[in-house]
Amino acid sequence: MGNLRILITGSNGLLGQKIVKQLIAKQIDFLATSKGENRNTSCQEHNYQSLDIERIEDIESIFSSYQPSHVIHTAAITNVDYCEQDPELCYAVNVNATKLLLDAAISIDAHFLLLSTDFIFDGLKGDYLETDAANPLSHYAHSKWEAELLLHKGSYSNWSIVRTIIVYGDGENLSRSNLISWAKESLKKGEKISVIDDQFRAPTWAEDLAWACIRICKLNKLGVYNACGPETLSIYEIVCRIARFYKFDATLIQRSNSKLLNQAAQRPPRTGLNLNKSSLELGYAPKTIEETLDLLK
Ligand SMILES: NC(=O)c1ccc[n+]([C@@H]2O[C@H](COP(=O)([O-])OP(=O)(O)OC[C@H]3O[C@@H](n4cnc5c(N)ncnc54)[C@H](OP(=O)(O)O)[C@@H]3O)[C@@H](O)[C@H]2O)c1
Repeated sequence: MGNLRILITGSNGLLGQKIVKQLIAKQIDFLATSKGENRNTSCQEHNYQSLDIERIEDIESIFSSYQPSHVIHTAAITNVDYCEQDPELCYAVNVNATKLLLDAAISIDAHFLLLSTDFIFDGLKGDYLETDAANPLSHYAHSKWEAELLLHKGSYSNWSIVRTIIVYGDGENLSRSNLISWAKESLKKGEKISVIDDQFRAPTWAEDLAWACIRICKLNKLGVYNACGPETLSIYEIVCRIARFYKFDATLIQRSNSKLLNQAAQRPPRTGLNLNKSSLELGYAPKTIEETLDLLK
């Protein structure tokens, strides 16, 4: 792995933490960065530097001292409803700061890997191919699509985009929970939960996604790759599968729908990403929900 030098943004996030963990295990050279202090105890301080990606001087200084061969850009404002309340921050971080990082990568000819989302689609089709047309429905979705367009429409070719769906797993000091952990913890405590049955997703084990990102760097793959879980299910079905696996009381799960939930951001009803290309070109073979639940703390 001689010349891989991977700079990660958002290393305190769920995906960022898993990428760091796998790079340590694979003994690949990396520099982890995130806005706050390092909250990931498996990442040693000499491998970490705070970086607010809105600050161009800090980006330039880190790029010139570390000289990455690859940038895995996971940092983003990821709370979809929050992005409806503060679109200015959402676009500033998800689009403008992405442009700053991309320009820095271009200046040293580093590979730029951008994390993107199933939410760039309107959710009327499902099983989306890498080549399907986007139609984002919310500010978050628009911001991620605009970030993608920086790559699709630019003249630089040393980039990849990894699109994913509801990422779950355990991490340290995460700023937010995820669907699977929330459902597991609530049901374990015997709390009633209300779960929608009219949105369909393929939940993604963060370790599988981290593997796909690193694999793309290793193989120097260019272009768009889907990397989600292997099954597209309604949120209700996902939660029922969790209850069944842990033998939790399934009567705690109340069926609901998107209209009753009244979320700030509009969401695509059915996503799911087609995995044929990733499977063929990367050897991507994601775990089922049950295979991962045993591994969750
Ligand atoms: N999670 C999902 O369900 C999902 C689904 C589809 C796509 N994605 C995409 O996958 C990527 C990773 O998601 P995730 O779940 O790992 O995200 P996450 O847990 O929300 O972490 C995002 C990280 O971004 C960092 N960040 C925010 N603003 C920053 C700034 N100005 N400068 C530097 N860092 C900043 C934060 O760092 P600090 O904690 O240090 O402040 C945070 O830890 C994102 O690009 C997201 O859009 C996620």
